[in-house]
Order: sequence, then structure tokens, then C-alpha cells
Amino acid sequence: METEIIYAEDEDAGEAVVKASGLLQNGELVALPTETVYGLGANALDPDAVTKIFEAKERPSFDPLIIHLSRPEQLAEYCELSPRLHEVAHKLIQEFWPGPLTLVLPKKEIIPDIVTSGKNTVAVRMSAHPVMQEVCRAFGYPIAAPSANRFGRISPTTAAAVMAELSGKIPLIVDGGACNNGIESTIIRVEVDENDPEKRPELHLLRAGPVVKEDLQPFGKVIRPKKLSDRARKALLDKGEANDVEAPGMLESHYAPSTPLYIFDKPEDFVPEEGVSYALLSYRGQAKDGYMELHDWDVVEELSPGKGKLGEAAVRLFHLMRVLDESGADAIVAETVAETGLGVAINDRLRRASINK
Ligand code: TXA
Ligand code: MG
Repeated sequence: METEIIYAEDEDAGEAVVKASGLLQNGELVALPTETVYGLGANALDPDAVTKIFEAKERPSFDPLIIHLSRPEQLAEYCELSPRLHEVAHKLIQEFWPGPLTLVLPKKEIIPDIVTSGKNTVAVRMSAHPVMQEVCRAFGYPIAAPSANRFGRISPTTAAAVMAELSGKIPLIVDGGACNNGIESTIIRVEVDENDPEKRPELHLLRAGPVVKEDLQPFGKVIRPKKLSDRARKALLDKGEANDVEAPGMLESHYAPSTPLYIFDKPEDFVPEEGVSYALLSYRGQAKDGYMELHDWDVVEELSPGKGKLGEAAVRLFHLMRVLDESGADAIVAETVAETGLGVAINDRLRRASINK
């Protein structure tokens, strides 16, 4: 299959939207831009179309998908909401949608099991990207869309990165420019106490992302789920206990370049091996952070040169991981950033990309 790229910026958006929604209607896959990363979309209500996502990505069937809506009112069509859950979910939606916040809520029957990997919850979001919004509106049904990379690899933040991941496996990539968050949406499972409306809702933070803990705190108690090793996760899934695995896709190893990537608690922990060429993924490119002059690096890339801005670092993170993966260096060393605000999500991605943490 030949993969076509169609530009959706400026005057070409209309044609791209018509093409994309036509393919979705026919049960085909389309890569679409969102504000976080590119998604690989299919009709969420068509199990055969959704199967194609798992095949193209080589994604294990235990890892459920996010569905993308065109308007908040659709939530009630696909999620089973008690009055209290409705109230809490809508407060969050009012604040954060459209935008990079995904809500995990009890699902309605109409959502096929393949979308949720057999779980009784579904992950839902509404993207802020104008092209994604137009496609969602034109298509009318929810679009299931995981990140448009092969399973375990780096999420794509440009159409070219999608091409590198899925060329020949999908008919169309809609190019809406580089993603302006650059890191996947924050995911929370919302839980309320039905018997006690006074009790604060629990927001279980399944994946750190652009909407940070501090943003969520006014809406409920933010809870980090217990860590589950890849082995324990597999044991539960093998027993068919999908509902006991709170965050099926948060594997210890993920978002990884092909080149081994290392992170360290402090720069001095890095001991170079003889004959190995190293690339550095630096945060600010500043000597005082301890890495720049630690070694004679073959290549250096900077996430946010100068003073360092976490937003800019997030936007460039996956792109620069790709650049360094292709730089020819034998190994990559990445500096971690301050564990505050967006830094939590950046460090989370670096940890999962690394082979030593
Ligand atoms: O920003 C994003 O969220 C992007 C764009 C394309 O929307 N999508 C994305 O999808 O990152 P994906 O499939 O790469 O990651 C979705 C994550 C996975 O870790 C999956 O396990 C989790 O969401 N997930 C989906 N449904 C879930 C559910 N019912 N319960 C718990 N986790 C769920
Ligand atoms: Mg992904």
C-alpha cells in the first residue's frame, strides 16, 4: 500500500478533511494531527477498523485506545455517567477541553470491547487541534486513535515521523504541522463516591502529560496509582483480569529509540565505555548542569537552549530523540529535568525510553 501525505494547513484543509472522513467511513486508517502527538485514527464503533490499528502498530491487544470526540455532549453517548460523575466530569471538561486531558470513565455497551481491551472503562478526549476537530466533526462518530508509531517506539510529532513509522501500512497521513504540545495527553481515571456527594472526587493520574498535577488539584484529590511491574501486569492479563490492570499501556519500557538511551541520577554516574560513541540529549546546553563538559560527546542536541523552558523541551523531546537515534551514535545519554510541573511528564518519558532505569 502506498501512503499518501495530504497537507491540511491553510487552503488545503477542506480536501484533507473530506478525504480523511471518507476513509474513516470506509473502515480505513488515517493518521491525524493532534496538539499532543499524531494519532492513528479509525472508526471507534467498527471493530474491524479498530483491528487494523492494532495490526499496523503491532500493538498488543491488551493495550486499550483513546476515543476522540467532536463535542463534549457526546460524552453521555459513550460513557455511563451517574449524576455525580457527570457533574465532576463536566467540570473537568469545561476547564480542559478541547485539550490534552483524557478521562477514563465507565463505558457504554456501544463501545466495542476491542477498543477498551475488555475493560469496563473507556478513555475519552477532545483534541484542540483544528484539523482533528474538523475531521471529528465531519466524520461524526468517535475516532479511536493511539499515537501513530509502531508499538513501544517514539511517538510522532510531525507527519514525516509518522511516515518513518508507518509508511506502506496506512493509506493516508494528514499533515497539520508539528504538534504544539509534543507529549501525549494527561490521563486520569475519575472516581466519585456515589453515597457521599461531599467527598472530593479521586483523580487517578494514569499518565503524566501537559495538564499537570497542580492544574488538576482544584478538581479533586490527585492520586498516583501503585506501580505495577511488567511481569505482574502480564500475570494479571494472562488470567483475563483486564479490569485489575489500571494502566495497561504504562509499560516500564516505552517511547524508546532503537539506540540505547541512558539516564543517570547525577552526571558523575555516567562512566563511558571504551570505543563507544555517545550522543547527549541536553536540557539547556549549559555546562553548569554537569553533562556538557563531562565527555567529548559525538553529537549534542538541546531541548531548550539557554535558560530552559519545560514547555519547549516537551515540544522537542520526541523529535530530538528521533534525531539522535538517527545520528549514528552508539548510545544516547539524556539529562533529566526538574521534577516539577511539566518536568514530571518529560522525566516519565525519558525513564521509559531508557534501558537503565
Ligand atoms: O495525546 C494522546 O493521548 C495521543 C493522541 C493521539 O490523542 N494518544 C495516545 O494514545 O497517546 P496511546 O494509545 O498511545 O496511549 C493511550 C494510553 C495507553 O497507555 C492506554 O493503555 C491508556 O491510554 N488507556 C486507554 N484506555 C484506557 C482505559 N480504559 N483504562 C486505562 N488506560 C487506558
Ligand atoms: Mg502511544
